[in-house]
This record gives sequence, structure tokens and C-alpha cells, in this order.
Amino acid sequence: MVADESQTAVPSIDTRRLVDRPLVLCYYFAALAYLVISMLGGILMALQLVRWNVLEGIEWLSPGRWRMVHTNAVAYGFLANAFLGTLHWAIPRLSLRPVLSRSLSWFIFWAWQFIVVATAAGLVLGPSLQAEPWVVKLASRWHIPLSVGAQALEWGETPFWIDPLALLGLALVAVNFMAPIVRTPGPMYVSLWYFMAAFVWTFLTYAMGNFLPEYVVPGTSAGAIAGLFIHDLVGLFVTPLGWGLMYYFVPIMLKKPIWSHGLSLVGFWGLAFFYPLQGIHHFLYTPIPMFLQYGAVISTIAVELVVTTVIINFAGTLWGRGRDFWDNLPIRWFYTGMVFYFLTCLQCALQVTLTFQKLIHFSDWVVGHAHLVMFGVFSMWLFGVMTYLFPRLLDRQWASRALCEWHYWLSAGGILVMSSDLILAGIFQGYWWAALLPWDVSVMGSRPFWIIRLVAGLCMAAGVVCFLINIAWTARAGSRAADR
Ligand code: HEM
Repeated sequence: MVADESQTAVPSIDTRRLVDRPLVLCYYFAALAYLVISMLGGILMALQLVRWNVLEGIEWLSPGRWRMVHTNAVAYGFLANAFLGTLHWAIPRLSLRPVLSRSLSWFIFWAWQFIVVATAAGLVLGPSLQAEPWVVKLASRWHIPLSVGAQALEWGETPFWIDPLALLGLALVAVNFMAPIVRTPGPMYVSLWYFMAAFVWTFLTYAMGNFLPEYVVPGTSAGAIAGLFIHDLVGLFVTPLGWGLMYYFVPIMLKKPIWSHGLSLVGFWGLAFFYPLQGIHHFLYTPIPMFLQYGAVISTIAVELVVTTVIINFAGTLWGRGRDFWDNLPIRWFYTGMVFYFLTCLQCALQVTLTFQKLIHFSDWVVGHAHLVMFGVFSMWLFGVMTYLFPRLLDRQWASRALCEWHYWLSAGGILVMSSDLILAGIFQGYWWAALLPWDVSVMGSRPFWIIRLVAGLCMAAGVVCFLINIAWTARAGSRAADR
């Protein structure tokens, strides 16, 4: 079965009316606003590391807090909003049915923005409030946990009272999108497999990470669950949504079916089987039992093999149409993201080995890896989707092709430099630490790398500025779009 709507669409259905375009636009604007905030946080943190902190002395804007705003705003503000917006486009068009309820969609949109803003406020203000004597007194009188601001769980820093709300929100998202999917007759296209799995997995992952280590499982076991949570957020939330969208958009844009439907299912089931076993690779060389650590190592390497089948499938789809890589901008974004995906998984298969871990554990190698996957892959795919959809949502052609190109090259060049720079820095740091040199040696030695990271980050941010200017120009002055 093919995702090409020209082949699957029933003539009597007006696909334009299936999609709530203002909602998709609102999701995209929210996503881009959080991306700007997150990037500001990243730049601030990068400035701090080279000792040029421009906000020095302002406690609630201290880099430690901004770091959490940086990561949370990017994951829950940018990526989640951009994915939700795109799903509101893709699922009704794929299933040829609207979502369960438009009002529910709007409710979820506003509830989600509240959750993200409350999280950011909790991160920035929380620790300051917790230090206030009157807050401590009030909290003890009313038995309110002091983690009312933020929780000490990586990627789960959302204040504890938000967790049940977020979980409810995720359940509503699943119900809203599942309704059209389950009513779709016939064999299901692979994108829908991925989407359905993502709805179930994200709910379970969020519940596991935000409740078990906090309230149920103590000590090292909580660490093991936290590792699983961090990794599953990438592997069972953004990865299935990302690949599901690639399986949807690439055939539409290339106007040809995906190379092998069979291989796409190998990729899906391989991900489903191996990904949840990997979490503990975040905590190698810890007191977590070694058989679990070894299991995580092996399943991480296995995922690289699964990823290779997916990459072969997409390479097969592009085969004979190489020109489209250069001429079709969304396709360029998508395939660049896929190359980075392959590289990041290859890197993962290496760094997960205990030999490698000895060298790079706790170093900037990991930060390089994190940016490569989050920006180099998922952000690239979402930028590609937005580059394709904004003209359709605004009913305008892009005002400036040059700005589109600048956005692509600044982003692709910036992330290539940033990730290579940090990966290299990590190797140096590993050797400095292994040689038991004073800590200062590694800090001073890292400085040139951190300056380069700052410059690369500024390039990536400049790319986003080009994108925003282009959107504004397009909305105001672009010519009407012929193609939808
Ligand atoms: C303006 C561009 C950016 C700059 C300058 C920047 C800088 C930074 C810095 C300094 C850190 C903290 C590193 C440390 O603690 O040693 C960080 C962490 C992180 N950033 Fe960025 N960042 C940028 C954009 C992004 C984007 C767009 C994403 C995702 C799409 C992202 C994802 C992450 C992640 C996942 C981490 C956590 C890494 C870890 O804990 O290993 N960053 N970033």
C-alpha cells in the first residue's frame, strides 16, 4: 500500500476539509516560539561555559535553570508541538477521516501550552521559591512536597502536580487520533502503525518515568527506570512519530511508493522489540546488575542493524531520483536527517560498548550525540515538513527561496560543526581525565571547543531567524500557491 494520496484518495472526499489548518498553524507557531526560547537557553548556557555569561548574578536566570528550560522547551515545546501539528495534517489525510473532535483538539492544544509554560515557570522560579522561608513554612503546614517547582529527574523535571495532567493530555491525544485510525478499512499503511504505537508507548513511557522512580521504586532500580524513561522518550515517542511521518511524506513528494513495504515492517517490529531494552545504556558502570547492562549494550547494537534496513528502504525509494535531493527542499531536509540518523545510531553502537564508555562517559561526546539526534534528525525532519506545509497552510508560495536555502545550510552546517566539535572534545576530555591530569587542564583544553560550539549554535539560531523572517514575508506578501 502506498501513502500517495493521489492513489488512495476517494474522489468524493475533500481532503482540504479534513484538516483543521488554523490549528496546525497554531501548533507550528507555538513550536517555533519554544524553539527560539530553547535556543536562547542553549546560547546562554554555551556563553556560561566560555565564561561570557551576560546574565551573571540574576539567580532565576542562572545557567543551570536555563539548561533545563533549554532541554524541556525543545522536547515538550518544540518537538511535541510540531509533531502534534503535523499529525493533525497527516492522520486525517491518511485515514480520510477527521479526528474524533475538533473541540477536543483545540482543548488539547491549549492544555499542552499550559503544561509547557508551567514547566518552564517551575524550572525558572521553583528553586528560588523553595528557598523562601515562607514557602517552606507553608509547604510543611499543608503537606505540599517542595518539588512543587521542579523534580530532580532528567527530562522529567516537570513539577509533580503537572504529571497527572500531562498524562491525561497524552491519553486524550491518543483517543482523538486513534478514532479515525481504527475506522480505516483494509491493511494499514506503515505510518499508521508507527503513529498508533507512539500514542500507546508515549503514554506508558511518561507514566513509567514520572511516577515509578518518584513514588514506587527506590535507589538503583529507580536509576534503571530513569534511564529507560530517557531513552524511551527518544525511541518510543519522537522516533516512531518521525519515521511515521517520513513514510508518509517521502512517497508523496517523490510521487512513488516506498521501496519495500516488507522492509518497512522489519524496521517497525525491530524498533518495537529492541528499543525498550536499551535504557540502561545511559547508566553503564553503575551498580545496576551487569546482566542488564550487557543486555542494553547488545540491544543497542541490534538497533543499528534495524536502522540500516530502514535507511536501505529510503535509499531504495530515492534511487534513480537523486536530482530531487537538490531540487526538492523538503526531500533534502528529510534525507539529510536520515544520514544524520544513520550516523547517530552508528555512533551509539560504538559508544555503548564498555571499552568506549571508559573514555567518553560524562564527556561532551554525549552532548554532541544528543544534539546530532535531536537537531540533526528530528528537527531537520520537522523543518522539512514545515517547509512543505507552510505554503499549503498559508495558501502562499514561499516569499524567498534564498531564505529557505539559508535556513537549510545554516542548520545543516551548524549541526555538523557543533556535533563533530563536541564529539572530538569528548575524546580529548576522556584522555585528559584518564591521565589523571588536574580538572583545570580539561576545562582549559575544552575552551576552544566550547567557543566553536557557540559559533555553530549561533549559526543554527541564525537559520531559524531566516525561517521566521521567511514565514512572516510569506504570510504578508507571498504569491498565492497553486499547489496544495
Ligand atoms: C542555539 C543552538 C544551541 C546551543 C548553543 C546549545 C547548547 C547547549 C548546551 C551548552 C547544552 C548543555 C551542555 C552541557 O551541560 O555540557 C545543551 C544541552 C542540550 N541541548 Fe542544546 N543547544 C542548542 C540547540 C539545541 C537544539 C535545537 C536542540 C534540540 C533540537 C538541543 C538539544 C539539547 C539536548 C538534548 C541537550 C542535553 C544534552 C545532554 O544532557 O547530554 N540543543 N545545549
